Amino acid sequence: MIVDSLGRELRDLRISITDRCNFRCAFCMPEGKDYEFFPREELLSFEEIAKFVKAILPLGIKKVRLTGGEPLLRRHLENLISMLSELGVEDISLTTNGFLLKEKAEVLKSAGLKRVTVSLPSLRDEVLSKIVGREVKASQIIEGILKAIEVGLSPVKVNVCVVKGLNHEEIPEIARFFKGLGVVVRFIEFMDVGTLNGWSLDRVFSVREMLELLQRSFELEPVGRSYRGEVAERYRYKEDGLEVGFISSITQPFCGDCNRLRLTADGKLLTCLFAREGHDVKSLIRRGAKEEEIRDFVVSLWSKRKDRYSEERLELLKKGILPKKIEMFKVGG
Ligand code: GTP
Ligand code: 5AD
Ligand code: SF4
Ligand code: SF4
Repeated sequence: MIVDSLGRELRDLRISITDRCNFRCAFCMPEGKDYEFFPREELLSFEEIAKFVKAILPLGIKKVRLTGGEPLLRRHLENLISMLSELGVEDISLTTNGFLLKEKAEVLKSAGLKRVTVSLPSLRDEVLSKIVGREVKASQIIEGILKAIEVGLSPVKVNVCVVKGLNHEEIPEIARFFKGLGVVVRFIEFMDVGTLNGWSLDRVFSVREMLELLQRSFELEPVGRSYRGEVAERYRYKEDGLEVGFISSITQPFCGDCNRLRLTADGKLLTCLFAREGHDVKSLIRRGAKEEEIRDFVVSLWSKRKDRYSEERLELLKKGILPKKIEMFKVGG
């Protein structure tokens, strides 16, 4: 186990395996802008990723989450999952937009994937298509979710990024639909990740407002976090005991227990979702460094860590400071 300068353990590793995406979500990479993607040769290979994970597993990593961009766009992702599984990673999960999930769920499960989180900001085809910047039917993503449940990727969670005026009115409808399927939904406050998504405080629909809206239709009771460092605030429907989560990065930041390290597809380490830039670990891996060297690099990085951006954000905003930050599709959430 290692701790940072604020006493926070490193437990959770998030690996973005591509910065490309087949969607253009309004809250992440809005349509109509020019995006630069990493050239193929800059991407870490699966072998390189596995080498990194193997090196730092002894530091106490309990969870590995694969993200993107859209991770299902990377060919033969199942090979990476098998490698991680063989290394003994206990909890391997995936965050996806679900578009390709129906066809991939089975092979991912066989490779050792434990669970999946699907981002779905609307159930109405028209709204969904508008948000994700292309013609999409919600039913296609729902079929992916059902397939994931069928093959035993459990639990399947659904992430709903809520933007005021875009999809906030749909919260009760989305909650009701997934309650019917027994799927846990997490509603996420629109965050100022990166600098391209047109974020402003008045487009944030707060967790308080979400709860108020939901409680008009459902009786809810708080459950408390299930583990230290969990990002979601959990509630339970009194009716059937199913959980629903809320992620309040803007109005009630949770940096105090933040135990997450992020690796970008081009081999940079980030100690915060809102970091300006990463620390190059690829050159270390590519020049054939020993596992011990890679581990020492991470220990040194983590022990100096003092990030708590979400707790500092409102102060910075008040002062009119807009820091440069890496984009969501490069970090993967
Ligand atoms: P579980 O392992 O299922 O508990 O996953 P999780 O809730 O940690 O992961 P997930 O990636 O689904 O997190 C949900 C969303 O919360 C992310 O997509 C981000 O939008 C947000 N989030 C996750 N981690 C952080 C974080 O460290 N800081 C902030 N500010 N937001 C985060
Ligand atoms: N604010 C909050 N959540 C976001 N996501 C993407 N962009 C944002 C944002 N600006 C969510 C997606 C996905 C996860 C990777 O992050 O919906 O679930
Ligand atoms: Fe793609 Fe996910 Fe960003 Fe949407 S939120 S554009 S699905 S990476
Ligand atoms: Fe962790 Fe940074 Fe998010 Fe705070 S803002 S919870 S330090 S990733």
